[in-house]
Amino acid sequence: MPLVSSKDVLLKARAEGYAVGAFNLNNMEMAQAIVQAAEEEQSPVIIQASQGAIKYAGLEMICAMARVLADASSVPVVLHLDHGTDYKQNVKCLRAGFTSLMFDGHELPLEQNIAMTAKIVDIAHSVGLPVEAEIGSVLTIEGLLSDAEMAEIRALEVPKQFEILRKKIGPRVEAHIARPEEAKRFVDETGVDFLAAAVGSVHGLWLDIWPLRVDRLKEIYDAVQIPIVSHGSSGVLISKAHAEAKGVELLPGEGSLKDAIKVGYTKINVATALSMEFNRAMLEAAAKRPGEKDPRKLLDPARKAVVAKTKEYIRLFESNGKGGGATCAAKGEVAGSQEIKRGEE
Ligand code: G3H
Ligand code: ZN
Repeated sequence: MPLVSSKDVLLKARAEGYAVGAFNLNNMEMAQAIVQAAEEEQSPVIIQASQGAIKYAGLEMICAMARVLADASSVPVVLHLDHGTDYKQNVKCLRAGFTSLMFDGHELPLEQNIAMTAKIVDIAHSVGLPVEAEIGSVLTIEGLLSDAEMAEIRALEVPKQFEILRKKIGPRVEAHIARPEEAKRFVDETGVDFLAAAVGSVHGLWLDIWPLRVDRLKEIYDAVQIPIVSHGSSGVLISKAHAEAKGVELLPGEGSLKDAIKVGYTKINVATALSMEFNRAMLEAAAKRPGEKDPRKLLDPARKAVVAKTKEYIRLFESNGKGGGATCAAKGEVAGSQEIKRGEE
């Protein structure tokens, strides 16, 4: 089916209590893998293009790949702009065929973030496109720790890794968490459709180790009542059971991705975990075939590995209709489906 609006899949997901994965594509193989995983799980899916992906492949190429993959797919596929930088980039994506936009103004003072987000929402809504925007700051691990510090911490056992991370980055992450009253004002004044509210996650952190402030997420969702977007999801603890098994001790109010889906997380962005899986499988294939001349012999195992990893996330998010709450998630039977009109805007 043709690419669909993120509003179609996310409002349905929120109403039915599951989340939809928004997976970053870095190349053709990853884009194919993500849609194949969604198809095999019969789940809606969001493929999203980061600034790095846009520089690497070009906007037109990304749109063409997404369009071809969606057209051949039986499940709803959304093409989303991840961390959109400004007004012009959002308009370019709107015209190019994206079905979901984002403005990331988290570095701006609140007033300016509100003003620019509102301007983008205005043009996007005029053609039926939804917009995500960020409040608070989801920091990046590379901005918090040096490579040497990361290597040193990663060499330790998980409980010790966590203890040191808590001490070294915890206070700075905490200081950037979004506040419910600001979130409410931001949503009221911008008309944004989905809110990327920082609740303690960190971009690019290694897998399944870090808790979220689920108490703050609940307060924010209760205040704004629109789907909340998770950034920096690869590093977040998947479940309380995982935390216990790893010896990671949670404080009151903290929780996992699973807890967060129950109280408002609806779009869950995953990039690092898929990239790492792609590289792992590609390097493993290269090690097994020294001197291989055909790049496809290395890229195909990587593509297969990303299919498997994406399916794990889809099952975790329960967007495949197998979680009890979710029903018919993939069928695209969406009440009031969003009509996107790209004319003379
Ligand atoms: O915008 C993309 C995401 O926030 C991805 O974060 O690389 O930590 O999974 P991640
Ligand atoms: Zn992000």
